[in-house]
Amino acid sequence: MDVIALDDPTDAQIREWHRVLAAVHAADPGAEPAPDPERTTARLLGAEPGSRQRLWAAADGGRLAAVAALRLPGAPGADRPAEIDIQVRPEWRRRGLGGRLLAVAAGGLRADGRSSVIAQVLAGTPAVPFLESHGFECVLTLKGMLLRLDELPAGRVARLVAQGPAGYRLVRWRGVVPDEHATALAGAKTAMADLAEYEGTPWDAHRVRETAEMVAKRGDDLYTVAALDGAAIAGFTEVVVPLGAAGRAAQYDTAVVPEHRGRRLGIWVKAAMLQWLAGERPEVREIETDNSGDNEHMIAVNEELGFRVERESLEYQAAAAALPAPPLAARVPETRS
Ligand SMILES: CC(C)(COP(=O)(O)OP(=O)(O)OC[C@H]1O[C@@H](n2cnc3c(N)ncnc32)[C@H](O)[C@@H]1OP(=O)(O)O)[C@@H](O)C(=O)NCCC(=O)NCCS
Repeated sequence: MDVIALDDPTDAQIREWHRVLAAVHAADPGAEPAPDPERTTARLLGAEPGSRQRLWAAADGGRLAAVAALRLPGAPGADRPAEIDIQVRPEWRRRGLGGRLLAVAAGGLRADGRSSVIAQVLAGTPAVPFLESHGFECVLTLKGMLLRLDELPAGRVARLVAQGPAGYRLVRWRGVVPDEHATALAGAKTAMADLAEYEGTPWDAHRVRETAEMVAKRGDDLYTVAALDGAAIAGFTEVVVPLGAAGRAAQYDTAVVPEHRGRRLGIWVKAAMLQWLAGERPEVREIETDNSGDNEHMIAVNEELGFRVERESLEYQAAAAALPAPPLAARVPETRS
């Protein structure tokens, strides 16, 4: 079993990579939908704008037993942490492959001048003891909530939209923000900064557009609804309908600027989003969202809309210095249990 870099993966390697993801999902489906091959291809071939990625795999001839993706947002040496995702086929676990891939990725992390790395994993899965035995610490608990649209009581969404606070106006757009709202959206995203403790880069119109272009490049559709106070955005919500999503959309950012909080703007923009999606994307049956476990207000808004807690995710972080050194050329035993 060799660890190889896949910086320029072939079609066969992409197919194999996808098989690893599918095997991991089949063994432990959790609340996640099955991975989609087109999406895997798009992710492996295109690093997101403003970000680079490094890929490695543990290869048994042409077959891949385990894969690792290291996402490097921003410029090399940037003060932002990298993100690591390692997936090991169930029949190849507890043989040190995950640890070997992590050590190789740690080399890539240091080579890029990063000081830390984060990983998001499901609570109660082997990822927890794996990361904790490799120098990671849990820094955030996320409640994964799901809204099943066909379980929404009739009329609830229309009623919430109709009850919007006086003095505000709703606007909405698909994809990249229209020029007239770009600076205002950057301002509203900056107001979220208290929640996003890892964001070292300030929001501006350029970064707002770049993030939306990144979503489009993956083949996903970004929908935004915002509440305007004059020309300023007082609150907004974003939902992404992923390519090949099989009926499930993902909630992205929702924020209400501090001086506009307490007026039910959050639930208003979210209800308007549900109403828009029902007409625009009727195939969407479910919306998933992750909320920081201590973000009680957003969880309350989601519960009022009908979201229910499905799973708990944990965000782990490790300093580059705490990670294992790149491995020696030791080989993993070829026999499987
Ligand atoms: C988490 C995962 C990557 C671990 O891969 P792996 O190849 O089995 O890990 P390793 O063999 O290198 O394990 C190294 C150490 O981690 C710990 N560990 C790993 N799996 C464990 C488990 N199920 N229970 C307890 N400890 C575990 C142990 O300390 C282990 O050392 P040991 O086998 O000598 O006791 C794998 O279980 C997986 O693919 N899970 C699903 C995807 C996922 O959640 N990925 C995490 C994203 S970073």
